[in-house]
Amino acid sequence: MNGWKLTVVESYADMSRLAADIVQHSIEHRPGCAISLPTGETPRGMYQELVRRAQDGTIGWAHTRFFCLDDYLGRGKDDPFSLTGWLERTFLQPAKFPEGQTHLIPTTAANPHDAAIDYERQLASAGGLELIVLGLGANGHIGFNEPGSAIDSRTRVIDLTAESRESNAQYYEGDATIPGQAMSMGVGTILEARRIVLIVSGESKAGIVQRALEGPVGPDVPASFLQTVSAKLEVIIDHPAASRLGTSQQPRT
Ligand code: PGA
Repeated sequence: MNGWKLTVVESYADMSRLAADIVQHSIEHRPGCAISLPTGETPRGMYQELVRRAQDGTIGWAHTRFFCLDDYLGRGKDDPFSLTGWLERTFLQPAKFPEGQTHLIPTTAANPHDAAIDYERQLASAGGLELIVLGLGANGHIGFNEPGSAIDSRTRVIDLTAESRESNAQYYEGDATIPGQAMSMGVGTILEARRIVLIVSGESKAGIVQRALEGPVGPDVPASFLQTVSAKLEVIIDHPAASRLGTSQQPRT
C-alpha cells in the first residue's frame, strides 16, 4: 500500500472546501510560510472558498508568501494568456493578498535562465514551500512539467507539448494560439515542499490519475514522481476521477 493520504469526496464543492481548509491550516500554523497554488479549472472552487473566507475575515494572510507555480513565457500579467493575470483576478486581488508578498515567476525577464535561478533563491530564502497545491494535467504534467521532465528539475523554461497547448486552448475564445513555451517550478522544486496536495476532479482524469499514482514512476508521467514523496502527499479527489484507482488503496480520511 502506498503511503499517501487519499480522500475521496462526494462533490467538487467538497474537494474545494477541503483544499481551502488545508491552505488555511498551513498559514495559521506556520505564520510567514511560503505557499504555491495552481491555475486551471480544478482549483476555481478552492479560490472561491478562499476569497469568501478572506472577505468575511475568516482567513488572514499576515506574512504568508505566495509563489507562482508556472506561466507562459514572455507574457506579462496583462497579456490575455497570462496565468499570473488569471491568478490576480481570480484570487490575489479579491482575496486582498498583499502585493509585496507575492513572487511572480519571472517569465518576462531578459534572461529567463538566470531569472529562474534567482526565483529558486527567493524561494529558498523564504524557507522553501510549506505547502503546494497541484492540479493534474491530462498528459500527467504538474505545474508545466511536461512529459520528459526529470525528477530533479528546477524552475526553468519548458517547451509545451501539443497536447497541453490543445487542452489549454479551451480556456480562450476564438482561434487562440497557445504560446509554445512556459516557465515552471521544476519537479524537484515541487517535491521539496513540506506538504503536497493534489486535487483532481472528473471522469476525464480517471486514467491519468491512475497512471500517476499507481503506474510506473518516471518522466513519461511527471506526476508519478509524487509517489516518491508519498508520506507528505495528500490526494483529494472526487469519485469519478478516483474510479480507476485500485482496491489496494484504502481511503484514509
Ligand atoms: P485543469 O488543469 O485544472 O484545468 O484540468 C490541470 C493542469 O493542467 O494542471
